[in-house]
Amino acid sequence: MVKKEEMVVTPWKVSGRIDYEKLIKQFGTQPIDEELLERIRGHTGRLHLQLRRGLFFSHRDLDWILDKYEAGEKFVLYTGRGPSGPVHLGHLVPWIFTKHLQDAFDAKLYFQMTDDEKFLVNPELTLEDTARFTYENALDLIACGFEPGKMVIIRDVKDIGHLYRIALRVAKHVNYSTVKAIFGFEDSSNIGIIFFPAIQAVPCFIASEEEGHNVPVLIPAAIDQDPYWRMTRDIASKLGYYKPAQMHCKFLPGLGKGGKMSASMPETCIFTTDTPEEVEQKVWNAFTGGRPTVKEQRELGGDPSICTVYAYFYYLFEEDDEEIAELERRCRTGGVLCGDCKKRLTERINRFLKVHQRRREEAKDILDKFLME
Ligand code: TRP
Repeated sequence: MVKKEEMVVTPWKVSGRIDYEKLIKQFGTQPIDEELLERIRGHTGRLHLQLRRGLFFSHRDLDWILDKYEAGEKFVLYTGRGPSGPVHLGHLVPWIFTKHLQDAFDAKLYFQMTDDEKFLVNPELTLEDTARFTYENALDLIACGFEPGKMVIIRDVKDIGHLYRIALRVAKHVNYSTVKAIFGFEDSSNIGIIFFPAIQAVPCFIASEEEGHNVPVLIPAAIDQDPYWRMTRDIASKLGYYKPAQMHCKFLPGLGKGGKMSASMPETCIFTTDTPEEVEQKVWNAFTGGRPTVKEQRELGGDPSICTVYAYFYYLFEEDDEEIAELERRCRTGGVLCGDCKKRLTERINRFLKVHQRRREEAKDILDKFLME
């Protein structure tokens, strides 16, 4: 019998087949249900694709944030990135959603670049490497359409002077056995990473400090970041702050069989700086739900539920609900071949990247306007 690979979801490792229902139970979060979706729709109009199709699937205190908002108390958004390499399409997914939330709720965004974290957890990376990725990744972030004045980029190493006081206050309330239980630290863990969770907690409280009164915070992020928020929520009231609320998303699969898109497997992920030829080649080699031969595909149909090409249409590139339903139907009934889908996806990605790459260049001129003062 083949042993099923165990599911592991921590901020630093994601592997195995991910069972999202189980994660909700394990982490003690809430599913984003119909009632909540209805409430969100009341504010945003038509639901964003990532909500309609369940990419954002879980939350903490989202109902509370909406109560506050409806009572006239505006919230800020907080998300971030560990700059350990170039940005790929999987990274852009929650950023695109965050931009949508920002527009719909007129919310300021704090974006943390954890160059310290990535230096500490990755034996290969130097501080120069993570500073360089911070710069490169910030260009991709800005290319998603954020405007100066509405987003602040926090670079941990450079901006530590703005963070340290709050980090110390957080750290004083968290003992080692708590972080050990939450993050799985061991005796061999370096002491930098043991302190680091206090730094990732800080942006939850910056707006409250700046404004001199409590400001609600909503964090849209992949579910693997949840351990940080468990810790942060635990100590928030001890420091006199609101608990940060969360919306959790799933991982976008890579183009290979199983697993999320990961820069450590470059052949299975589309980087934002890839050339049209590179995109074509990667998509061409993608894992699909197709049959081994055209004849079988025509007779038996394919399986979109395991197809990475379909997943890219579903979560990112096919906005039209009727079109996506039609694509699924045609795949299942053998009306479309994998080659057709791959060609179409390649075109869509390249069209998207053409615009993204232009904006990414333009971001170089305005990057300074997003930095902390
Ligand atoms: N730890 C995150 C990572 O490695 C980076 C991060 C910092 C973050 N603050 C965040 C991600 C808030 C999401 C939300 O990618």
